[in-house]
Amino acid sequence: MFVSSRSAAEYRAMFDLVPEDLAGSVLDCSAGGSSFTAETDGRVVAVDPAYVIGRSELAARLRAGLDEADRIIDDNADRFEWSWYGSPERRAEMRRAAAERFIADLHRRPGRYVAGALPDLPLASGSVDLVLCSHLLFTWADRFGEDWHRRALAELVRVARREVRVFPVVVSGTAEPVAFLDGLRRELDALGHRTELSRVPYRFQRGGDRMLRIGVGSPLDSAPRR
Ligand SMILES: C[S@@+](CC[C@H](N)C(=O)[O-])C[C@H]1O[C@@H](n2cnc3c(N)ncnc32)[C@H](O)[C@@H]1O
Repeated sequence: MFVSSRSAAEYRAMFDLVPEDLAGSVLDCSAGGSSFTAETDGRVVAVDPAYVIGRSELAARLRAGLDEADRIIDDNADRFEWSWYGSPERRAEMRRAAAERFIADLHRRPGRYVAGALPDLPLASGSVDLVLCSHLLFTWADRFGEDWHRRALAELVRVARREVRVFPVVVSGTAEPVAFLDGLRRELDALGHRTELSRVPYRFQRGGDRMLRIGVGSPLDSAPRR
């Protein structure tokens, strides 16, 4: 699995974030080489298992993965659309800039980057207001099964005080809906959380323009969503 490096602009579009969403504390879980934490003021923490490896090795792996990711996208061009990025070159530039911002911030503020893995995060219950999870759950549903997803979602809900957002909800490289998503939503609803699938402004993987929102123990806010 790539340690990829999406920017804060991509996160804002993927998670349909407005300034009020970021007023409290935020966890970026499976943050990888994303520069969301580096670019976001306030109380943001990034968690990823890749942070156990040394900073130089992580930087080398991240930079090496950029060309490989570009190649995969070129080889599967029909699976992607470019209305949000504008062009493949713009996307590649954003990823490279984000990787360099991440690497600089990892050196400058290492305390914001915590090694940890779902489904057992090294964080206290209810310790952040909002949890964001980009391109791990559902994306890798061919690798992580239903029970892993159940435990991972329970863990994200455990550490969140207000809301969890997961993007996207389709398997990587396909527009296939994940077969067990609806069942897991019903289970969360039965536990007193509220879930919804919301369309977001981000467009890239065909069929992958929705996020899962989970209102922890309470209704979701009434802000209009696409
Ligand atoms: C495709 S990358 C996404 C990185 C970043 N969120 C982004 O959007 O650019 C997936 C990340 O999930 C991390 N990962 C793999 N297994 C994980 C687990 N069990 N818990 C949390 N993160 C995991 C990988 O190390 C990798 O950095």
